[in-house]
Amino acid sequence: MNEREKELSDLLIREHSLSVEEYEELLSNRDAETAEYLAAAAVAERKKYYGTKVFVRGLIEISNICKNDCLYCGIRRSNRNCERYRLSDEDILACADEGWRLGMRTVVLQGGEDPHYTDDVVCGIVRGIKEKHPECAVTLSLGERSRESYVKFREAGADRYLLRHETANAEHYRKLHPAEMSYDNRMRCLRDLRDLGYQTGCGFMVGSPYQTMRNLAEDLRFIETFRPEMCGIGPFVPHHETPFAGEPAGSVELTCFLLSVIRLICPRVLLPATTALGTMHPQGRELGILAGANVVMPNLSPVDVRKQYELYDNKICTGEESAQCIQCLASRIASIGYEIVTDRGDFATDV
Ligand code: 5AD
Ligand code: FES
Repeated sequence: MNEREKELSDLLIREHSLSVEEYEELLSNRDAETAEYLAAAAVAERKKYYGTKVFVRGLIEISNICKNDCLYCGIRRSNRNCERYRLSDEDILACADEGWRLGMRTVVLQGGEDPHYTDDVVCGIVRGIKEKHPECAVTLSLGERSRESYVKFREAGADRYLLRHETANAEHYRKLHPAEMSYDNRMRCLRDLRDLGYQTGCGFMVGSPYQTMRNLAEDLRFIETFRPEMCGIGPFVPHHETPFAGEPAGSVELTCFLLSVIRLICPRVLLPATTALGTMHPQGRELGILAGANVVMPNLSPVDVRKQYELYDNKICTGEESAQCIQCLASRIASIGYEIVTDRGDFATDV
């Protein structure tokens, strides 16, 4: 770690903020020693609010049918070789019950932008979960919708919403998405969600095609100003049936470095060690937690559809990352000095 890296690190630790230029410099000149220095500071910061707790979210992948065509995504509509499925309301409620039984106090309903899930359908599912398990937090991750839809979901009882911004640079956004999708609408959605009182999550892929260090610096600046309650980041992993099939995957090392930086920007942010990180490295999620993450999202989807929710190649979907093996997950987390908790794990306020 040279003197300048130390100076930038200390500035970030002290101010929770850097300029775009400074973030770019910090990322571009990083080395193992800087990573270690920032990880230690990130872990200390997290400890103030959450101790060594790791929160669990049960992920239910409700449908892989999608009207969008994001260039990176394996379930994009142009992928004719994707075997499509959609869970019924009953299937989803059964998954949520299973999550409750396993000790999960948050379920995340995630899916492609599937027109079957109208506002009424989504609201019915949210109400169904809330009636049966009033203590369970319901997080939605169903993509871009109108403000009116978000209002209705909130009235039905949804607590949180995840919508990765994907990139904070409009030009980069255009290179990752088809012409009919827009950076402005993405940002409009995030602002609406925030306004409507959702605990809101943004996020991005690390190493997505055309991404520069400058772009990542812009993502960090965006996070600094938007101040999300949650932030999902994971390495880009190519999918063989997409235009980005031949692109290199994002790095585990850079992802972990960014997890530490994000923890230092937003000390109380709920930060998952993502499935993509677990896919790229056998101890990916442990490395993420040691860098500053404090959330894991085991898969609660019915076992027979898990393979079909294939956003990228080789997605881990059996064994220890799944909800049914929460014990294995718990012992892995315990082995690095952390503990899985049965707790809603809301964003820490007034500490
Ligand atoms: N590699 C890694 N992450 C991906 N996502 C979609 N496709 C890929 C991929 N090929 C991420 C996007 C999306 C989230 C649900 O999954 O960031 O927002
Ligand atoms: Fe479905 Fe991107 S391909 S939202």
